[in-house]
Amino acid sequence: MPAEAPSRPPQKIAILTEPLKEKICALFPRYPSKRAVTLPALHMVHEHLRCVPIQAMAEIAELLEISPAEVHDTMSFYGFFPQAPIGDVRVWVCRSISCMLRGGDELLEHACKRLSIHPGETTPDGKITVEFAECLGICDHAPAALADDGRVYGPLDEAGVDAMLDELKKGRKDEAPHI
Ligand code: FES
Repeated sequence: MPAEAPSRPPQKIAILTEPLKEKICALFPRYPSKRAVTLPALHMVHEHLRCVPIQAMAEIAELLEISPAEVHDTMSFYGFFPQAPIGDVRVWVCRSISCMLRGGDELLEHACKRLSIHPGETTPDGKITVEFAECLGICDHAPAALADDGRVYGPLDEAGVDAMLDELKKGRKDEAPHI
């Protein structure tokens, strides 16, 4: 009876492509240390994948010669980088003081109810992810929301949220007028 070939542990497929790794490495001369490239590397991976999965964190760490925990620390400090894929458009509804006093919480609830999701979730068609945010730095638009393609919305009311969601469902835009 022939001996069975020893089974090999399954090989993990790399998440970071060679061109993406090269882009990250090209930043090294511009920063005082490889560690200092952590945040720009996270942004590059996020731009490429629309998320930063655990394996990508490990691969960034390897490139930067730091521990995955350090990459995770940076990632969790900013709270900007999702680990799972998000919708085509990500929108943050502000719930900090200026917006909260003008109904930000209720508008977040209204947006989620209209899309039949909870804060932090993505619509089943993958078009919109709705999240709450602390001050977005656009308090003069309170209650305000910000899409990740740069569109600013506010001051919002329920009708404004409906109009915002209708616009976001159409996809990403670089520039758009305020509602
Ligand atoms: S408190 Fe909402 S943008 Fe500043």
